[in-house]
Amino acid sequence: MKTQVVVIGGGPAGLLLARLLMQNGIATVLLERRSRAHVLSRIRAGVLEWGSVETLRRAGVGTRMDGEGEIHHGVALGHTNHQFRIDFAERAGRAVMVYGQTEITKDLYTAHDAAGSTIIDNAEDVTLHDVTGRPRVTWHKDGRSHEIEADFVAGCDGFHGVSRQTIPADARTEYERVFPFGWLGILSETPPVSHELIYSNHARGFALASMRNPHLSRYYVQVPADDTVEGWSDERFWDELRRRLPHDAAEAIVTGPSIEKSIALLRSFVCEPMRWGNLFLAGDAAHIVPPTGAKGLNLAIGDVALLAELMSAHFAGDTAALATYSDRALERVWAAIRFSVSLTGLLHRFPGQSAFEQRLQEAELAQIERSDSAQTTFARNYTGLLT
Ligand code: APR
Ligand code: PHB
Repeated sequence: MKTQVVVIGGGPAGLLLARLLMQNGIATVLLERRSRAHVLSRIRAGVLEWGSVETLRRAGVGTRMDGEGEIHHGVALGHTNHQFRIDFAERAGRAVMVYGQTEITKDLYTAHDAAGSTIIDNAEDVTLHDVTGRPRVTWHKDGRSHEIEADFVAGCDGFHGVSRQTIPADARTEYERVFPFGWLGILSETPPVSHELIYSNHARGFALASMRNPHLSRYYVQVPADDTVEGWSDERFWDELRRRLPHDAAEAIVTGPSIEKSIALLRSFVCEPMRWGNLFLAGDAAHIVPPTGAKGLNLAIGDVALLAELMSAHFAGDTAALATYSDRALERVWAAIRFSVSLTGLLHRFPGQSAFEQRLQEAELAQIERSDSAQTTFARNYTGLLT
């Protein structure tokens, strides 16, 4: 078997890349380790920068997002018993779209099915060969071995994937900071406490009020890194959330049973370079950001939009195009890491942090509330990077 681009991983990065390449007439085969049902059962991010919205529309998968997604023109930051709003339209002249990653993934699969794309799920033991020459990829499925040859391999297989590990250890540099806490998140079929997101700093730890739609709330509270979901009954979660959100919001929370509950550790990770020969990394395979800035999914979309453009230029005859991929992608990645790490530092309680540091965080939030330029910087970073 032969194709032009083998895409490893059927998360949003891989599915969108295959879609954008196909629109430009480039043949792709996508290999996904898990079943489609498993991929579609994962609850992940929910906030799209405007550039991501436009990329999804351009990929022909914007219809349901435009119908069911919610445009948010601002966000609230708070601490203890005070919150204030940052107006995106006024400060940055653009908005964000709240639409779940799970729904985007569903829309991408639907578009691929309609176009007859080659997506192979339950592909086991995916292995990359000769990526600095003429790449080949092998895998097992239903007890049989398979092999395909390609011009390029796109490693879109997430943080635990095989693609990044294919780059020899002495040819890549990995930068990492693991935070000593996680986010406990729940999904609940209740109306969200506010029509916009609330990010709250509290002496007991950070809390976030988010949503998927007007009937589906997504809430998070910061927890120690070694906490387990078993220790968190729904009742305990709601009590803790109520304590940590600004007073007026806390009073308005509508509680109900959780339909999903999980803990994710906070981590920043970058692998450089994002290209090794004819292997290109994109999305979580190359980088992880702490979720505080809602950048993970947007970075993945940004990577594959750039990669699709450069691969298309390559196949149209511009063989130098792909040489710029890694540096251009990494510039945006580090901008996102910088924003997400600084917002994490502003809003979370760190082990050993004293009341002094808590007051400093509150003073910094007050400074953002007073400062036009600080609000503009926040709004620009939150709604889109490097623009
Ligand atoms: N072979 C084939 N597929 C693999 C392999 C492998 N060895 N390892 C992992 N995969 C698949 C996973 O099963 C998953 O479906 O690769 C996919 C990677 O998808 P994601 O983890 O969702 O990563 P990505 O597509 O880069 O999405 C970006 O943004 O909101 C953030 O972290 C969040 O998932 C989100 C990410
Ligand atoms: C979410 O709704 O899952 C969400 C929103 C904003 C974030 C992180 C996660 O910063």
